[in-house]
Amino acid sequence: MTLYRCNIALAILLAVVLLATWSISVDPQRPNWDFLPDMQYSPAYEAMSKNDNFADGRTWQASPEGTIARGETRLGYAATPADAIRAGEELTNPIPAGDAAVLARGATVYRVNCAMCHGPQGQGDGEATKRGVPPPPSLLTGKSPQMKDGQLMHILTYGQGSMAPFVAQLSLDERWQVVAYVRDMQTKTVTSAASPNETTTPDESPSPAADLPTDVPAAGETP
Ligand code: HEC
Repeated sequence: MTLYRCNIALAILLAVVLLATWSISVDPQRPNWDFLPDMQYSPAYEAMSKNDNFADGRTWQASPEGTIARGETRLGYAATPADAIRAGEELTNPIPAGDAAVLARGATVYRVNCAMCHGPQGQGDGEATKRGVPPPPSLLTGKSPQMKDGQLMHILTYGQGSMAPFVAQLSLDERWQVVAYVRDMQTKTVTSAASPNETTTPDESPSPAADLPTDVPAAGETP
């Protein structure tokens, strides 16, 4: 008797399940029913769109006075020649000199951002100078070999004369890397100028040189 009742109950249960399956048919055209959607459908404002939540009616608000972006470092100098000298006395390149990885990175930064004006070897004969840009002074024989690292950093951060600042394009690290690379170019030139007949030794070619512009002449070759 109990078995009979049990079968009846199971049959009813089966009927209910079948009915439920048939009635809750899925319509792929309609989104599913959301239980507690939380903030899934929060309205987003476009940066340039109107916004009544702010007094000036804009979505894009200026940063509060005195704040800087996370990871940003301000050097805090004025864009004047006097402050360039002061930066030279106060700032030192935190990047270890002669580190192959740093020089390779500096070479890339130089090739992308500087070579078009200063030339692939720093002689002030970049492609842009052949198309109307006034040629910059040579980085090898001009004033820059005598400038301290901090002054080069000041030039890259605040510009100098007709050279625009690079603070928007290059991070602080990238600016130090390119300073290290310029220094490396300068010392290499001094060495090869001192002994112009010196021949290239094979052990000079690997690591940093692998990432240098291909048109850099071998040491001792005077272009
Ligand atoms: C658009 C061309 C241009 C680009 C790009 C450029 N420079 Fe210059 N640079 C100049 C000019 C022009 C001067 C001379 C400015 C002056 O004193 O009037 C100069 C000056 C300099 C000086 C000072 C040289 C001296 O003897 O006074 C340094 C150092 C320097 N640049 C480094 C760099 C580095 C490093 C980069 C790449 C991150 C770079 N420049 C990118 C045009 C450029």
